[in-house]
Amino acid sequence: MARDTWFETVAIAQQRAKKRLPKSVYSSLISASEKGVTVSDNVASFSELGFAPHVVGALEKRDMSTTVMGQDISMPVIISPTGVQAVDPDGEVAVARAAAARGTAMGLSSFASKPVEDVVAANGKVFFQIYWLGGRDAIAERVQRAKDAGAVGMIATTDWSFSHGRDWGSPSIPERVDLKTMLKMAPEVITKPGWLLRFGKTMQPPDLRVPNQAKRGEAGPTFFEAYGQWMGTPPPTWEDIAWLREEWGGPFMLKGIVRVDDAKRAVDAGVSAISVSNHGGNNLDGTPAAIRCLPAVAEAVGDQIEVLLDGGIRRGSDVVKAVALGARAVMIGRAYLWGLAANGQAGVENVLDILHGGIDSALRGLGKASIHDLGPDDILIPEGFTRTLGVPALSGKAEQG
Ligand SMILES: Cc1cc2nc3c(=O)[nH]c(=O)nc-3n(C[C@H](O)[C@H](O)[C@H](O)COP(=O)(O)O)c2cc1C
Repeated sequence: MARDTWFETVAIAQQRAKKRLPKSVYSSLISASEKGVTVSDNVASFSELGFAPHVVGALEKRDMSTTVMGQDISMPVIISPTGVQAVDPDGEVAVARAAAARGTAMGLSSFASKPVEDVVAANGKVFFQIYWLGGRDAIAERVQRAKDAGAVGMIATTDWSFSHGRDWGSPSIPERVDLKTMLKMAPEVITKPGWLLRFGKTMQPPDLRVPNQAKRGEAGPTFFEAYGQWMGTPPPTWEDIAWLREEWGGPFMLKGIVRVDDAKRAVDAGVSAISVSNHGGNNLDGTPAAIRCLPAVAEAVGDQIEVLLDGGIRRGSDVVKAVALGARAVMIGRAYLWGLAANGQAGVENVLDILHGGIDSALRGLGKASIHDLGPDDILIPEGFTRTLGVPALSGKAEQG
């Protein structure tokens, strides 16, 4: 990779993304709801956790491989589903190629810009993410399309709370990018020649349609048409989740769990995995950081289903902290979006390499041969760090770390 495009940390990828992208596109990647309390806690909480390293006795080789929902992965990191509208012309296909090149799996958003068939062709380990949008019949059609395309798992995301007010001001996302919009965006776009050139090469403006909300081969509704339909759909019940899992029939994850009681109900609904998550702070602001909620959830259901975590992962050491506190693996969101914005597929590979290197370095410092040997004893957990939600006797009370 050319020296001037390579970056050594995710923070630098973020700086590059900010420089490259038009303001509204960058700001939609940063996102977060209301005051941003949750998004800040997601990241800051990792800094509260410390390590207890050894100084002699590190092992020569360290094993990071594991499985998630039946898929072999090279390290405990997979791609979390995000709508990558307008960041890169190859969008989710570039992300899928990068994940495949680094031996890991990918969650594909149903609000993605590329058809599921194209993404599966680039990476055989795709988990299709679905929102509860349009009622059972419409959802069953989408499930069937993902199955036919060869997706190997499903992620159901049900935590979206339609919180639209943001103290930092929401980005204006156009309905579609036509000439009129391009002219309107011109002042912010003209100063971003790299981004313009990348889309210019394809001779097509960014496509703000969501093709996976339609039948195969159709262009799909615009982002806002689909969003409006979603807002008008009654929220799912636990019976709906059990129905969806049955309809899918394969490995199934419910994303967005933070409470112990919800985790237990997810087990009852027959899921194979959950992700302890608050949607990267884009939801109900004031929800604690995912890592604070992880230990109690992992303790309650970790021996019955796979427990993952997403939210705030920026370094390999964050991954090691999450695994030590009970996560089988983590999912990353903004980290790879910044890599994609900074340098396309190579930028996503760069981010995965940073995390891989960071995990290896932390394992070495801790004197571990494998991620499977990690446990809470490797971590310094300050008093009051964890949050146990959904256990009546403990909820709302201060806790011992
Ligand atoms: C721009 C953006 C778009 C997202 N779109 C989706 C989505 O379509 N489906 C979904 O399940 N989660 C979505 N998420 C949430 C991510 O999957 C993930 O939960 C979150 O980004 C994790 O936090 P992190 O960004 O700190 O890694 C999105 C997140 C961002 C930042």
